[in-house]
Amino acid sequence: MLVSAKEMLTKAKAGKYAVGQFNINNLEWTKSILLTAQELKSPVILGVSEGAGKYMCGYKTVVGMVNGMLEELKITVPVALHLDHGSYEGAKACIEAGFSSIMFDGSHYPIEENVAKTKELVAICNEKGMSIEAEVGSIGGEEDGVVGAGECADPNECKMIADLGVTMLAAGIGNIHGKYPANWPGLSFETLDAVQQKTGDMPLVLHGGTGIPADMIQKAISLGVSKINVNTECQLSFQEATRKYIMDGKDLEGKGFDPRKLLAPGAEAIKNTVKEKMELFGSIGKA
Ligand code: 13P
Repeated sequence: MLVSAKEMLTKAKAGKYAVGQFNINNLEWTKSILLTAQELKSPVILGVSEGAGKYMCGYKTVVGMVNGMLEELKITVPVALHLDHGSYEGAKACIEAGFSSIMFDGSHYPIEENVAKTKELVAICNEKGMSIEAEVGSIGGEEDGVVGAGECADPNECKMIADLGVTMLAAGIGNIHGKYPANWPGLSFETLDAVQQKTGDMPLVLHGGTGIPADMIQKAISLGVSKINVNTECQLSFQEATRKYIMDGKDLEGKGFDPRKLLAPGAEAIKNTVKEKMELFGSIGKA
């Protein structure tokens, strides 16, 4: 059964480790992540962007697929199904469809509007026992086709949003989605420290988990980050393994063109990426 992310993140914050949010794009991705989490006894969060939700035939299809896998694969570790960077409308649609967690990304609204919309969604999520993530300070890189630099959140605004009763808070600390440029100055630990001091026990979320050096990840966890989002790294490992399969001519041998065979190396590669991340985040054995 899908669970809210609240309990797993409260435990992670207290235990100084982080739970990985791995974004899903199709059946193979989802199966690889769930099997790895089960094998390693780690809690896990499956992230679904609005674009990926649309690609997978809508949120109801995603809920059906994930619930089916939890049962068929006998998954017993805590799993949350979470809308990633949701719009106000998207958040409502996922609540309806049976997600167990949502992110409402109101960072592009004026703070007053972000507060009003977040408040309304917090009330609905509380009633349904779902977790809700809010974002302050836009996270750079490409979000819905808009490319921006990594902003640093205002700690006072973070406190204002945290006080609305959200479960977890994504604060921009210079992190960006996708690959980091060579001249990236690194995470702003000064901002993270100030945000944590203002928000206390609130689990903090680090987006853009791909390509952040291990020492920075560990320092971020020590300063209150308890959820880390990874997407691009799974895409890259999937791409590399699929390309190798084709370059080696395996698709031309026997039944190598069968999608079940063609996609198998990519699915294995995702398992390895997820395992590496769970090791780094310290979530193995915590389920
Ligand atoms: P990356 O694609 O950089 O791993 O970031 C994922 C993310 O933050 C999803 O919200």
